[in-house]
Amino acid sequence: MRLKRGWKLALAGAGMVLAGCGAQAAPSYHPPSFPPGNPMAGARLYATTCSTCHGPTAQGVPGVAPALRGRRAFGTLYTSEAQLAQFIEDYMPKNNPGSLSRQQAADAAAFIWGLNGHLGAATQSQLLAALGQAPPAPAPSSAPSAAPPSAAPSPAPAPSQPAVTAAEIAAGQRLYAQVCSVCHGAQGQGGVGPSLWGPSSAITAGSPFANLSSLANFIKTSMPAAPTNGYAPGSLSPAQAHDAAAYILQQNHLLK
Ligand code: HEC
Ligand code: HEC
Repeated sequence: MRLKRGWKLALAGAGMVLAGCGAQAAPSYHPPSFPPGNPMAGARLYATTCSTCHGPTAQGVPGVAPALRGRRAFGTLYTSEAQLAQFIEDYMPKNNPGSLSRQQAADAAAFIWGLNGHLGAATQSQLLAALGQAPPAPAPSSAPSAAPPSAAPSPAPAPSQPAVTAAEIAAGQRLYAQVCSVCHGAQGQGGVGPSLWGPSSAITAGSPFANLSSLANFIKTSMPAAPTNGYAPGSLSPAQAHDAAAYILQQNHLLK
């Protein structure tokens, strides 16, 4: 479904250009131009106008509307913030398209763009906080310097993720081999879908998907991206999504 929609949107984009040309005597294409968007204003608009369908935390609602975060599509399928604003202006909100001002469309696009990390880590944390989500864990490089060597070893910090059992990871590995590997590669190296662990994986310490429940939630709502070996988007049980997420985080050495 997700893949199909990608094509549909690409074609819709082309259609928009053609439709625009049809109305003019001399066909000419101008890339979309929007006023600068304000991501925090976009977050407020999101809460009142978009969250009913896309979910309170933009995680998507199965069968209603797709997730607007944690997805590579924002940055690849939509190659610029302006292109995203154009889509929103033309098609969203789906129950009342055309109702947003240009500024509102730009703000909503800035919100989604920022939520997906394209406006920097600080903006992303701010927007996640606006959705009531924990900010991504700080990257190791930005962590405060270690305690002086003479200091007594401090007690281990409280685990930030619930404990995961070996049986859950093993179940996740089996599911991965049966379903996910078809698109993400037997070694998580990527293929039709992005790499999920190893050198080109975007799932790193500090990324939103380093959080087990965020990752499981994304997998539950969005994966597999198309029907594969008996599973379809939205058909995984919460336990299966949890197990797959646990396995992926373990492969990334991110399970605590
Ligand atoms: C009535 C339900 C509804 C509302 C309200 C709504 N959307 Fe959507 N949205 C959808 C559906 C359904 C899709 C899937 C594409 C389609 O069917 O057109 C979608 C797709 C999108 C996409 C493309 C996602 C993708 O997978 O490519 C974006 C971006 C988006 N919406 C943004 C917004 C924004 C911003 C708002 C608020 C201003 C909003 N939507 C309000 C239902 C809704
Ligand atoms: C039919 C192909 C396909 C299958 C099968 C599939 N995926 Fe995906 N997956 C994709 C595509 C394509 C994307 C990028 C989607 C997007 O950006 O919206 C993706 C994205 C992801 C991401 C986000 C990665 C990132 O860096 O943004 C995760 C995590 C993921 N998939 C996990 C899984 C798991 C777990 C399974 C098995 C239960 C699975 N996928 C099965 C195609 C697939």
